[in-house]
Amino acid sequence: MLFNLTDEQLMIQSMVREFSRKVVGPTAAERDKTKEFPAKNFKQMGELGLMGMMIPPEYGGEGADTISYVLALSEIAYSCASTSVVMSVQNSIVCESILKYGTEEQKKKFLIPLASGKIIGAFALTEPEAGSDPLNQTTTAVRDKDQYILNGTKRFITSGKNCSMTIVTAKTDESAGHRGISAFLVPKGIEGFSVGHIEDKMGLRASDTTDLIFENCRVPAENILGKEGDGFKIAMSGLDGGRIGIAAQSLGVAQAAFDASIKYTRQRKQFGCAISKHQGIRWQIADMATQIEAARQLVLSAAAMKDRKEKFTMQASMAKLFASEMVNQITARAVQLHGGYGFTKDYDVERYYRDSRVFTIYEGTSEIQRIVISNNILKDKRNP
Ligand code: CAA
Repeated sequence: MLFNLTDEQLMIQSMVREFSRKVVGPTAAERDKTKEFPAKNFKQMGELGLMGMMIPPEYGGEGADTISYVLALSEIAYSCASTSVVMSVQNSIVCESILKYGTEEQKKKFLIPLASGKIIGAFALTEPEAGSDPLNQTTTAVRDKDQYILNGTKRFITSGKNCSMTIVTAKTDESAGHRGISAFLVPKGIEGFSVGHIEDKMGLRASDTTDLIFENCRVPAENILGKEGDGFKIAMSGLDGGRIGIAAQSLGVAQAAFDASIKYTRQRKQFGCAISKHQGIRWQIADMATQIEAARQLVLSAAAMKDRKEKFTMQASMAKLFASEMVNQITARAVQLHGGYGFTKDYDVERYYRDSRVFTIYEGTSEIQRIVISNNILKDKRNP
């Protein structure tokens, strides 16, 4: 392995691995059936410091580096992808955005309970007509003395039902393009803020994905995150970190599908021997291992750049693009290697296959990652 992990990083990895396999894993298949949100697990994850890992201790977090975070997130994803997406959204796009742009008051009020895992947060950017193109959003925030009045509908919001607060973006100036979008911290229970349609999804069934509806919702002006017009930048920089998380999540599910495939091909006998003895199967195992290792290097490299405080937008998109495409190939192969059994609910690979399908879609589709990567290359004057 290229990366020499520190003792601390290895310790976090091993602690989370143990927790994940003992506590999160055994009930994952059941949750996939019942769609039950693992609230109890999140409480424990909060106590273990997994819900605000990169947030400094004075704001309720662990002060861990991004490498430790991706190792931990992969371990949770290994057992339950639904649990890991909630952890990913909470840690990066919610907590880190408040850490970076929030006032001291906002950090005390929102970040401390979020980072210590006492409450769940959401990030509401997407709308029915504004997915890949968030500039096209129509939610508005109109200033009225010491309040903003929010109107609009957000869609596909992770933890929309189970969150206690959300960061929501809205237009404060229609004529100003991306500089006319602002972000707000909106607690649940405030008048005019409700949860709408709850999606019935192919995978990640224990994580709720919902519409959030704002109808003349009056938010105190002090709840604006950053300045008026900062919302697009906040979303984009939050997504940089978020995309490393989805790449780490992809890695965890791919590793689980790979391990299940090794176990199965060693024990399944056809033509008089374990199918792992057949060259056609061995080559697939070699390809899967190589793809996973390549993704791991990209994820760790993007995380290391973030830890060194270098600009990592392009590397986060590369890691997300490669790892999310990779896990879709790995889980499809895992189902194939399990033959007819892989198509049944008796084996976890069927769930891995469904769960990973969204990884190339959310937090920016593979097509959007290619736009980000090519934009970064082509606008860099150092490139020939
Ligand atoms: N960090 C900080 N600022 C950034 C940035 C970044 N990574 N990327 C862009 N910006 C800023 C730019 O600097 C620019 O601001 P200035 O003019 O002030 O300098 C502004 O944003 C516009 O930049 P671009 O012109 O490069 O942006 P664009 O409009 O051409 O393209 C895009 C943007 C990449 C296509 C973008 O719209 C995008 O990423 N779309 C996908 C959205 C997405 O990922 N949605 C997922 C929803 S969240 C989700 O899924 C969460 C969940 O619940 C799981």
